[in-house]
Amino acid sequence: MKFFADTAEIAEIRDLAATGLLDGVTTNPSLVHKSGRNFLEVVREIADLVEGPVSAEVVAIDYDEMMREADVLRAIGDNITIKVPLTPDGLKACKALTEGGTMVNVTLCFSAAQALLAAKAGATFISPFVGRHDDVGFDGMALIADIRLIYDNYDFATQILVASVRHPMHVVEAAKIGADVMTAPPKIIHQLFKHPLTDAGIASFLKDWEATGQKI
Ligand code: G3P
Repeated sequence: MKFFADTAEIAEIRDLAATGLLDGVTTNPSLVHKSGRNFLEVVREIADLVEGPVSAEVVAIDYDEMMREADVLRAIGDNITIKVPLTPDGLKACKALTEGGTMVNVTLCFSAAQALLAAKAGATFISPFVGRHDDVGFDGMALIADIRLIYDNYDFATQILVASVRHPMHVVEAAKIGADVMTAPPKIIHQLFKHPLTDAGIASFLKDWEATGQKI
């Protein structure tokens, strides 16, 4: 499973990249707003920092303007993935962009039917939002399982990118289902390392080692 960081904070991305476990980055207009940074500037910095795909979202809602924005964004670097919304215009842009060799992440997916459409439009990634799905009383993970089944039935190459991840169990459940990628806020990626027995074990080994009086 690939790990993407869902953030526009450069320091957090640099920190995660240093672990060697980061495969890409996703951003969205809300994360850019939260960062307080200039969109094109911050995307350029992220694309330089990370080798893997960096999702940058168009904000237009009509096809022509989406394509114009996509042109500006993809000129930033070869690892730029254009993020488009799951609408008829978004999927039309998805088809045109992927046919031209540009990676596309279709975002704001909340149903298996939408995911099927995105795959047919040649999406590189489909982003089902599991947390927001759970928020309104649906089962986000059941959606991931349905999409996995459908994509496997037809050998669609579109990668399932689990988004709106809110806690480590979302990551574990998505991995059990066989999702290709998950994107999570850096805080959640750091939480994946944690287990109280690991911390307690280190403390007890260090105490006993100190008592031996030895050095390596
Ligand atoms: O980037 C899209 C998605 O991950 C947003 O997550 O927590 O705002 O629902 P959230």
